[in-house]
Amino acid sequence: MKGKRVVILGATGTIGRMSVDVLSKLDQFEVVGLAAGKDIKTLLEIKSKFPLAKTSITDVSSNDVDFHGQDAIENLLSSTNPDIVIVGVSGFAGLKYALMSSKYSKRLCLANKESIITGGKFFIDSVKANGCEIIPVDSEHNAIFRLLDSEKSEVSFIHITASGGAVRDIPTKNLKDVTPDVVLKHPVWKMGARITVDSSTMFNKGLEVMEAHFLFNLNPKQIRVLIHPQGKIHGMIYLKDKTVKVLMSNADMRIPIAYALCYPQSMDIFEEFDPCGTYSLFDPDPKKYPALGLAYRCLEMGDGSRIAYNAADEVAVQAFLEGKIKFTQIYEIVEKVVEKGWPNDLKDYDSIEQVDKEGRKTAMEMLSK
Ligand SMILES: NC(=O)c1ccc[n+]([C@@H]2O[C@H](COP(=O)([O-])OP(=O)(O)OC[C@H]3O[C@@H](n4cnc5c(N)ncnc54)[C@H](OP(=O)(O)O)[C@@H]3O)[C@@H](O)[C@H]2O)c1
Repeated sequence: MKGKRVVILGATGTIGRMSVDVLSKLDQFEVVGLAAGKDIKTLLEIKSKFPLAKTSITDVSSNDVDFHGQDAIENLLSSTNPDIVIVGVSGFAGLKYALMSSKYSKRLCLANKESIITGGKFFIDSVKANGCEIIPVDSEHNAIFRLLDSEKSEVSFIHITASGGAVRDIPTKNLKDVTPDVVLKHPVWKMGARITVDSSTMFNKGLEVMEAHFLFNLNPKQIRVLIHPQGKIHGMIYLKDKTVKVLMSNADMRIPIAYALCYPQSMDIFEEFDPCGTYSLFDPDPKKYPALGLAYRCLEMGDGSRIAYNAADEVAVQAFLEGKIKFTQIYEIVEKVVEKGWPNDLKDYDSIEQVDKEGRKTAMEMLSK
């Protein structure tokens, strides 16, 4: 009997390659499609493990794949008829592709956080209207999803955890001098470059607060962040009787990927988790991580501010990685872009894309000053 049909978008990236690893261990799935941006070599290596899968590439042309160009992913989705799409594409492009995937499949295993942050309510409602469910892959949200799913009483608030990134133990006054080499050494997770830098500035956690707001329909005050250097506690839910439920596991993104694929089942394919050890949890220092406070302000300001926060951060992180700005200037640029003022209440893809473009343009202009 054939298994559930899976397409992986962003197959060549960190999430994509971990998904490939998980899917090679599970026989109840059939990988029918693999999509990448430009890395044809890695895409063809992955295809050799799943010979029946169709392939697509978006940013370059090639005769070695089934589809290429701007319509490649839509052609891949319409010709493979997947049950599940893993959305492991990075960046704003994830919004378009996640929306598209929700028309062709019944479940999104959603790693791309930008789609939720920029699309907000419009995104969540559109996916639902297409009859598709979202199972979050981001580890903290996957943990909260699992905890909420098994809870019958009302939840007071949630905590998502943060590592504090590679700069956690560097004094705030020295942050302006940290280099990309230092920032790219994440203490817990192995991830793509942008999300690793975003972990050190806590823009990533700011984005995750926004993500949790829309995914779980919680007000911003119900979403709290704690630093947890050991990376073993991923999410906590607080109940009215002052008890707390916690989800712990090894820091391995393959665990949430497998759960999102197999939900409501969990699979016995991972290393044993050793709960022994010393654990710490503490509040982030708002002076060291101002990006977190700015994320909460964006949630008050509305749709355009969140989109600008994400867009400006992507531009500023790239400039930092290229050595054009200092680490602390990432925040300064994003704050200025957000404070420029942006339209609220965006109800369609084109207006969201317009703010994304404007946000990037404004950030680029600030960089050139
Ligand atoms: N890495 C993690 O542990 C982690 C954890 C939680 C959430 N996430 C989220 O998951 C997403 C992916 O992260 P990542 O770390 O896996 O990123 P990554 O390693 O940079 O991989 C990005 C993937 O997206 C593809 N891609 C980029 N732009 C594309 C486009 N316009 N069209 C088609 N494909 C495109 C890339 O293809 P090419 O390589 O071929 O260009 C690559 O396969 C991000 O939204 C991130 O925030 C990641």
